[in-house]
Amino acid sequence: MEEMTTKDFDFALINEYFVGLERQGPGSPEATTKALSFIGNFSDELKIADLGCGTGGQTMVLAQNIKGTITALDLFPGSIDKLNATAGKLGLRNRVKGVVGAMNSLPFQNEEFDLIWSEGAIANIGFEKGLNYWRRFLKRGGYIAVTYESWFTEERPAEIEKFWVDAVPEIDTIGHDISIMQKTGYVPVAAFTLPENCWIDTYFIPQKARQEEFLEKHAGNKTVEAFIANLRHEADLYSKYKQYYGYVFYIGKKL
Ligand SMILES: C[S@@+](CC[C@H](N)C(=O)[O-])C[C@H]1O[C@@H](n2cnc3c(N)ncnc32)[C@H](O)[C@@H]1O
Repeated sequence: MEEMTTKDFDFALINEYFVGLERQGPGSPEATTKALSFIGNFSDELKIADLGCGTGGQTMVLAQNIKGTITALDLFPGSIDKLNATAGKLGLRNRVKGVVGAMNSLPFQNEEFDLIWSEGAIANIGFEKGLNYWRRFLKRGGYIAVTYESWFTEERPAEIEKFWVDAVPEIDTIGHDISIMQKTGYVPVAAFTLPENCWIDTYFIPQKARQEEFLEKHAGNKTVEAFIANLRHEADLYSKYKQYYGYVFYIGKKL
């Protein structure tokens, strides 16, 4: 076996941790279906891409609520294996296909999709860059729906400002992000903030047991301890500062 670099190890570790969870970011079936309600004209032929799909929490909700085929893409092979297994269990294999790939180098044709979906993942490429780059893969009249971290207020306490600017340097206000959507060539159709239960019930609470078992499995491993401490810090900051930031669903249409 080749020697693993720290970066490889971190990648493997994060993958292993998150594959054990149903969702890898805040969201809920209700939020996904609410976002879908802003997108009209569903046909049997709809082609959908779900970018940064993780293990497919939102992919299955999409598949169960609209007709058409979904190509779900993520960098982590373990997440894609789990997504394809879940699609099989739910009888969705003929309509849902998970593929390993990078969202900044998509293996798709121009104007291939009617709908591009992405929950909690666009920050990995950058909000403006992602909207700009993904637009070419949408048909004219196609829709994009993404969730992205945004500030709810013009100003906020330094502690939370620093945490999020370190994590997502481009983070900005909802008004600014809607203007980016317009600037990158979409008509903004809707924007709504994800309610607290999308963070607490589907993201932080399921992680509690996962963190305990992960620490036990990797007992004495300092990298794992630091990784879990960081996740717990994120949850603490959310309960302290949730009035200042959150995820927002941005829905736009390509003319
Ligand atoms: C916060 S998780 C969200 C996962 C899922 N959409 C959800 O909401 O549960 C972000 C996902 O983006 C994926 N990701 C990060 N960088 C990526 C890239 N460059 N290309 C494709 N996927 C990427 C990660 O592997 C991870 O599954």
